[in-house]
Amino acid sequence: MSMYILALLGNLLIILTVSSDSHLHTPMYLFLSNLSMVDIGFISTTVPRVIVDIQTHCTVISYVGCLTQMSLFIIFGCMDDMLLAVMAYDRFVAICHPLYYQVIMNPSRCGVLLLGCFLLSLVELLFHYVVALNFSNCEDYIEISNFFCGPSEVLKLVYFDTVTNSILRFTMGTLFGLLPISGIIFSYYKIVSSIMRSSSSSGKQKTFSTCGSHLSIVFLFYGTAIGVYFTSSLSYSPRSNAVASVMYTVVTPVLNPFIYSLRNKDIKTAFRKILSRAF
Ligand SMILES: *[C@@H]1O[C@H](CO)[C@@H](O)[C@H](O)[C@H]1NC(C)=O
Repeated sequence: MSMYILALLGNLLIILTVSSDSHLHTPMYLFLSNLSMVDIGFISTTVPRVIVDIQTHCTVISYVGCLTQMSLFIIFGCMDDMLLAVMAYDRFVAICHPLYYQVIMNPSRCGVLLLGCFLLSLVELLFHYVVALNFSNCEDYIEISNFFCGPSEVLKLVYFDTVTNSILRFTMGTLFGLLPISGIIFSYYKIVSSIMRSSSSSGKQKTFSTCGSHLSIVFLFYGTAIGVYFTSSLSYSPRSNAVASVMYTVVTPVLNPFIYSLRNKDIKTAFRKILSRAF
């Protein structure tokens, strides 16, 4: 619960800071505040229900409840991945084509990118639905081994043999994980090669400081997500799966705002301005 409150407050603070300071109305910070919004949705999908379940010692969830939780989990989780890729693209344009940055990242382009993220998340959800609706037995209540109804729990309920199940999970994970990851790798490959070409060390320093926070989040999010995905495809120990899922569903949204606000001068300045206006 304290982690949940911390995540809510931290992410709300980022949204508030970005929206209240007109210096921060640039694509990078608007995407960041979108990311915070998605993070709030992501953590709210699982944690409040877990807190209630712990109090009531409840380990079952209704079929409809399970599908709803899975849908929200996929939409927010996928938006999170895609937004990280869009933010990497934004950094790539800012560093490799600084003169055209205003033109390329105009407000309508940003809107289209966001819409694209959302549509891709819907496609991923549709894929899961096609599989999940083949439920061979539609019970009203479902007992889940993990602490929430994620995509892999729903897949386990569809009574495939374990090999088909693993192959399905692997394919979906690779398909929807690989798309944003390859975008991020491409952007950073371009960024690094442009840094190598520039000779001034102050330019390099500046580039590293703007990319550092984004890269930390990318490593945190993908590191834990890939860890969860592949350990859960290989092992069937519910306990280790649950521990890995906590890392990725709770810890990342909590740390996101802190990584950004502690390392970023613009956010810190804007935050100080809000504080001095308030008191
Ligand atoms: C999300 O991004 C869009 C486009 O950049 C921006 O117009 C919108 O204000 C952002 N939303 C939030 C909550 O910051």
